[in-house]
Amino acid sequence: MRILLLTHAFNSLTQRLGAELSQRGHEISIEFDIADSVTEEAVALFRPHLIVAPYLRRAIPESVWSRHVCLIVHPGIPGDRGPSALDWAIQEGVAEWGVTVLQAEAEMDAGPIWASTKFPMRLTKKSSVYRNEVTQAATSAVLQAVQRFESGDFLPQALATLSNVHGRLRPLMKQQHRSLDWQRDDSATVLRKIRAADGFPGVADSLFDQPCHLFDAWPEATLRGTPGTLIARRETAVLRATVDGAVWIGHARQPDGIKLPASRAFVAEAAALPQAPLDNWWRIDRPTWQDIAYEEVGAVGFLHFEFYNGAMSSAQCLRLQAALAWARQRPVRVLVLMGGTDFWSNGIHLNVIEAASLSGDSAADESWRNINAMNDLTLELLTTENQITVAALAGNTGAGGCFLARAADQVWAREAVMLNPHYKNMGNLYGSEYWTYSLPRRLGGDAARAIMRDRQPLTAQRALEIGFSDVCMVGDVPAFHRAVAQRAAQLAQQADWSDRINAKREARARDEAAKPLAVYRAEELAQMHRNFYGFDPSYHVARHHFVRKSPASWTPRHLAHHRELGWVAP
Ligand code: COA
Repeated sequence: MRILLLTHAFNSLTQRLGAELSQRGHEISIEFDIADSVTEEAVALFRPHLIVAPYLRRAIPESVWSRHVCLIVHPGIPGDRGPSALDWAIQEGVAEWGVTVLQAEAEMDAGPIWASTKFPMRLTKKSSVYRNEVTQAATSAVLQAVQRFESGDFLPQALATLSNVHGRLRPLMKQQHRSLDWQRDDSATVLRKIRAADGFPGVADSLFDQPCHLFDAWPEATLRGTPGTLIARRETAVLRATVDGAVWIGHARQPDGIKLPASRAFVAEAAALPQAPLDNWWRIDRPTWQDIAYEEVGAVGFLHFEFYNGAMSSAQCLRLQAALAWARQRPVRVLVLMGGTDFWSNGIHLNVIEAASLSGDSAADESWRNINAMNDLTLELLTTENQITVAALAGNTGAGGCFLARAADQVWAREAVMLNPHYKNMGNLYGSEYWTYSLPRRLGGDAARAIMRDRQPLTAQRALEIGFSDVCMVGDVPAFHRAVAQRAAQLAQQADWSDRINAKREARARDEAAKPLAVYRAEELAQMHRNFYGFDPSYHVARHHFVRKSPASWTPRHLAHHRELGWVAP
């Protein structure tokens, strides 16, 4: 079937659905929901058999839903309606939630149901539930609904005819529903409210007596203070006391500002807080804020880096490089880079770079510092000689993050993750992180060029098929972590471990003799220098719109196949 994906943005759920449906032989094209007339035009051009809307912020025009079956993905259980489905579910602490695929009709989210899936709710932030449980449930429900539509003999069920429906119409959750009372709310309540609003819109509150929205809350087990006061800082986060403990705030957004690490949003104020540093990289068992954590099981070392949104600023790259350099000295045979739960890495920190341009500093200089810090980190991994290194991707990874991962000897990815191993979407960025060494080495020159040119997301399965990655594992994040630990332990015990290490050293020496890594880096950075400092401002413009979340004004050609020159619907 020809299936049009109508969506507000090409987010990871849309990417996943597009890839899964293509893999099942459907012809997919994408149109961003920009205006009713644009949607109508896309439908007229593509003449789809079916329209699927994974992520919309407004209703589909009647001119479209009255003539075509439009399947809407709603992140709620049957009967649930309204724009704040997940926010209410998290804030009210429901034990079970779900995704419903329903047909668009005049009343929002009230059309007949084609499929629905349930999942146990996890105590975490909204964006994490969306990227994991919701994405997984939506994928299986959409695939089922598409199959049912294709069979031609399925009748979707009207809501009124269903028994046992627990969902109901809920209003938009406003800031008054989210407000924090630091003199009354215990830590669990503060965490729940901030998580229900994370990554968007955040909770309107204040830090240092200045209004801001709060994001990225972490529990703290031991430190205490007067409720409501800021009592400490650690790296990029600040700690605020509650009535029964304290909560770390990792990110904040000031009025008209952008979302930033708390210490970057309030530079002078945060610097005046007492530090609560961690002595070393070892993972701490009690709840606290720890973005980089190392643990060891037998002959395997695991390095976790839980960076918000997978974005890695210059300072974070430097710290991770220091942690990796330290881990390399540990007496382990296998070193696994675990990344974070939702993202492994998304490359340079575009928000911190954008902030440089806002504070009178230079975004070009900060970009340059950041890409060099990413490269130093990547080099540390590429030149790890005494261990077999593994990048274990539990969460999505994009752009430079993919090539940091590819610098490891092996890349193991969870089946549900999406990889975007290309840079051009960010204003034609050339990219660095030694990709010109690692990608052709794996895939050959032609395939490497095609990946960069086509800018398509890869499922973990597809990444394995084309040779970008080495292993694809099924299961949710905890199951993936268990499987990674088991596989890494086996790798460390293999009788040929020394042979593998020797082969790796020899290969690196051969490659270095043929063309030094420093040359690859210099060539890439020459291109990046033009991106950052040259006459073409595309990267700076694209970054600005990405960070500011400017609504799209057209769908890129590489996604909207129906807009390709010469396209004729069969
Ligand atoms: N720097 C700063 N923030 C980033 C980021 C980066 N490199 N990559 C992603 N983010 C942020 C997004 O702004 C968004 O912020 P929010 O919490 O305020 O909503 C959040 O991470 C999630 O991103 P989103 O696009 O919604 O996630 P996704 O899983 O749907 O898509 C990507 C993943 C990788 C396709 C997409 O985030 C992307 O294109 N990122 C930019 C990658 C890049 O170009 N890096 C620079 C070159 S190395």
